[in-house]
Amino acid sequence: MAGAQPTPADKAREAVVEAALGTLDLDAKARLLAGQDMWTLPALPEIGLESLVMSDGPIGVRGVRWSADDPSVALPSPTALAATWDPELARRAGVLLAQEARRKGVHVLLAPTVNLHRSPLGGRHFECYSEDPYLTGVIGTGYVRGVQSGGVGTTVKHFVANDAETDRLTVNNLVPERALRELYLAPFEAIVENARPWGVMTAYNSVNGTTMTEHHHLVNEVLRGEWDFDGCNVSDWTAARDTVGAVNGGLDVAMPGPRTVYGPALARAVRDGRVGEAAVDAAVRRVLRLAARVGILAGAEPVVPAPPAPVDGEALAREIARRSFVLVRNENRALPLPPHGTVALIGAAARDARVLGGGSATVFPARIVSPLDGLTAALPEGALTYAVGADPATELAVADQGLTLRAVCRDAAGEVVGSRSAPGGLIQWMGSDLPDGVTHDNLHTVELTGTFTPRESGPHRFGIKGMGPFTLTVDGTTYYDDVQRPDKDDPFEAFLGAPVPRAEVELTAGEPVDVALTHVVRLPEDLPMKVVGFALAHSGPQRDPDELIAEAVEAARAAGTAVVVVATTDRVESEGFDRRDLTLPGRQDDLVRAVAAANPNTVVVVNAGSPVELPWRDEVAAVLLTWFPGQEGGGALADVLTGAHEPGGRLPTTWGPLADAPVTQVVPVDGELPYSEGVFIGYRAWDQAGRTPSYPFGHGLGYTDWAYESLKVEGTTVRVRVRNTGERAGREVVQVYVSPAGPGPERPARLLAGFASVEAGPGESAEATVELPRRAFEVWDETGEAWVCVKGSYEIAAGRSIADRRLTAPINV
Ligand code: BGC
Repeated sequence: MAGAQPTPADKAREAVVEAALGTLDLDAKARLLAGQDMWTLPALPEIGLESLVMSDGPIGVRGVRWSADDPSVALPSPTALAATWDPELARRAGVLLAQEARRKGVHVLLAPTVNLHRSPLGGRHFECYSEDPYLTGVIGTGYVRGVQSGGVGTTVKHFVANDAETDRLTVNNLVPERALRELYLAPFEAIVENARPWGVMTAYNSVNGTTMTEHHHLVNEVLRGEWDFDGCNVSDWTAARDTVGAVNGGLDVAMPGPRTVYGPALARAVRDGRVGEAAVDAAVRRVLRLAARVGILAGAEPVVPAPPAPVDGEALAREIARRSFVLVRNENRALPLPPHGTVALIGAAARDARVLGGGSATVFPARIVSPLDGLTAALPEGALTYAVGADPATELAVADQGLTLRAVCRDAAGEVVGSRSAPGGLIQWMGSDLPDGVTHDNLHTVELTGTFTPRESGPHRFGIKGMGPFTLTVDGTTYYDDVQRPDKDDPFEAFLGAPVPRAEVELTAGEPVDVALTHVVRLPEDLPMKVVGFALAHSGPQRDPDELIAEAVEAARAAGTAVVVVATTDRVESEGFDRRDLTLPGRQDDLVRAVAAANPNTVVVVNAGSPVELPWRDEVAAVLLTWFPGQEGGGALADVLTGAHEPGGRLPTTWGPLADAPVTQVVPVDGELPYSEGVFIGYRAWDQAGRTPSYPFGHGLGYTDWAYESLKVEGTTVRVRVRNTGERAGREVVQVYVSPAGPGPERPARLLAGFASVEAGPGESAEATVELPRRAFEVWDETGEAWVCVKGSYEIAAGRSIADRRLTAPINV
């Protein structure tokens, strides 16, 4: 791949970088390559370098505080962004995130996540885009271009093959070279070529025996050598393990700090002759280049000198959400809702919406519009009723409704040294982010104290998330006074582990009670930085499930349409662990079946970041997948259900039952996870196995109909003419698939080669133009270690999904 030609501005920045590098001594250089805390690199005032600030993550910008009192715009999940099949919308999402980053003093966004949906069980499936490398690359390119056009850097992550969470720190993924090139490296390659990212993040896992923070071949030879990547390589958090291995493997920055394999350890390695100073200089050069690009190196003109025009975050979050919703079934035009009809809205997630996935992608939005909020605002008075129906959250959850809490910090003598608000009962203070007056030296205990006002009467459970000594008191009674210990060795277990139930208390709706959770702070020794992290968790009274379903059935019977919102929980979809199955938690399947039996106009809204099984899918009138829809999801849902907008999404990944899914394995055996399916994942594998999924890749209905009128292929240009044969204006995602028709190496039956969207009014036609990329006809030759074009005949197909191909044309390559 040829690198972009440096502009005069690039050259000027490089000159500043070289001059700055030349004045630094070894200790300063080594220091610059190590995190000084959870999110930042040290400032070097001697060269006019400010501290570089990084922050998660794909759907928002959390900033350096991990708390609800530092809110961020929360966009829909990455699966949703990919479901828009719209790189321009991804770019606009990126521009908003740059605006958020600037507002929070963040220079580099730790995103996008471009690992693939290899197995539907992957815990961070919701945080990745697609099972298809082309779609992933195109969406990721739009996103990176958007963020960087706002002057903020990106780290495309996690390089590479971090496609599951089980034993993520140690797993050795055995990936055949061809699969690596054609699938897992492909999105990174496309983004490097088309968006020139200023950073990548190397993953925790090993690939073919070498941990990714030390992978000389993939980082130095492929990413930098073949692809000409000139950005900065940041480790995933705690992924750098060995000073010499990491420097030689092309790792520039070891995060987080201050305890890392770089810093003083790196300076020592140079002095001992174990590492050449030139390798350190190369890493420092890349860090300074990043700093220059984002405008924190004195004398260097940033790539984007002035902030771009302001973006309305709430409006954009709503637009992306409705454009991402995938209508997979709509019998007898059950949607949009008939005007003037009545609606029974059902489901716990209709009231307490699940708008984002768990783990480092978490941000804290200033507001959340639930489906109940959205529909209440959109429908006339008296048209809407609500019933819980079934509650998937049978487990304790953090940040529940009704808690008003403050964190009071005391020293060893019991004197108060500081305090801070702690909405939702979550404490995550990292590095120097402590309440005013508090230091790691004077902090002895944190007491989360305040009130809880129950929404319902009955037995309420309280629990504790975190490690170490805790005392839990509710309404004057102490229920727990002991030490919680980890059951896993992930250093982030206090963040990612499950809360443990410790108290059950009978409470009355509307009557506040005092709650206090006191924690004696013990700084974890296995983390490189100081973190105070724990949370108070809660779950409300569990009503008799049959009674709840019966109430919902009554409500459904009395309404014109029943809208049931089903959902996963943050114990199902999160970073840090994989899923065990794809079933909806709790009694939600029973609920849908019972409601559908009572009302033929049952519409099911699936609020899940990744595929779940829908065993009742043929018994209901409509199924709308809304992913984790972000903070404005409820408003977007109202837009789509009422027909103010059509649902714009198409599946970025195949949906089907786990038992039929061809590739599922996420659990390593003896530390190894073989990708033995080679290049056959996602639709490639479903095709190969000859199985029919519930809903195929690319599928999604709008509110109008389309006829495919003509397909012309001229050279590498495909032109598809489509006509809107329905009664309202609409938007169509025209998909182009390529299948080999002649002899050659074993290849997928067909693959997505390109797509384009068109809009047309009723009766109008429009032409979609798609350029066929050369990679659609190439395979990676493992013997020759090169891309090879497989000459011969192919079929080009245009259609509405991989299964619904309307027009075909033969071509010869
Ligand atoms: C995740 C990264 C994230 C980092 C910082 C890690 O555990 O894998 O995606 O950027 O933490 O929060």
